[in-house]
Amino acid sequence: MLHSSLFSISCCFIFLIILIPQHNSSPLPLLIHRPDPDPNPNPNPEHFPVSVDLLNTTCELCANASSTFSYKFCVSSLQRLPISHAASFQGLAIVALELAVENASNTVLKIANMMNSGTFDHHDMSCLEDCMETYSHSVASLLNAVGAFMARQYNVANTWMSQVTKGIRRCEQGFSRGRKETSPLKKQNYNILQLSDIVLCIIQFLEPPTPPRSS
Ligand SMILES: *[C@@H]1O[C@H](CO)[C@@H](O)[C@H](O)[C@H]1NC(C)=O
Ligand SMILES: *[C@@H]1O[C@H](CO)[C@@H](O)[C@H](O)[C@H]1NC(C)=O
Ligand SMILES: *[C@@H]1O[C@H](CO)[C@@H](O)[C@H](O)[C@H]1NC(C)=O
Repeated sequence: MLHSSLFSISCCFIFLIILIPQHNSSPLPLLIHRPDPDPNPNPNPEHFPVSVDLLNTTCELCANASSTFSYKFCVSSLQRLPISHAASFQGLAIVALELAVENASNTVLKIANMMNSGTFDHHDMSCLEDCMETYSHSVASLLNAVGAFMARQYNVANTWMSQVTKGIRRCEQGFSRGRKETSPLKKQNYNILQLSDIVLCIIQFLEPPTPPRSS
């Protein structure tokens, strides 16, 4: 039952992606936002080739700037939805968000199974409870981020994404607090963090942080 509702959510997203106005959403949003006084300057947008596949280029650009995910992760994840080849720059972020929603929803189920399995001690059970709350909130935050993207409120989307990554990091760290232990949700946490980083990268190019005033 949950699967069919996830499926309809997916359909809804794909539909929304198609609805995103393609005009006026240049695949080169970087050009609009120069000059960039960032001490770690992003790759020079003037060398951003227009003609190559948007997915490949975005993944290359973002993987170059990221320490959490690789080009391969980015391409293989976003490729799972064929629409991404036709999508705008914004559309790619929404594809990543949709994958993250799917991931987080699956993880909620996984945590519930873990909690019912009776194989975790008191410390881990309380961590799992925290993670369960985090993941439930994350699904909502990710959907809010999609809404903000649709409204082109990239700073708002950024805030929602920060909540997601903060929560997931807390979930991951909970297990090892006070003991040496690998989190049983390591893979899931890392997946969401990587997908979130793709979204954050795209946000940064759409709406770079306001540079501090120099006077
Ligand atoms: C995009 O990347 C895929 C896999 O890395 C590759 O097979 C394909 O040729 C690339 N396309 C372009 C236009 O660069
Ligand atoms: C990413 O990094 C590689 C290797 O440093 C470089 O050749 C490539 O041009 C970069 N791509 C982009 C889009 O900045
Ligand atoms: C979560 O996302 C990753 C990366 O896109 C993917 O490889 C994995 O299959 C997804 N897992 C679930 C359970 O949705």
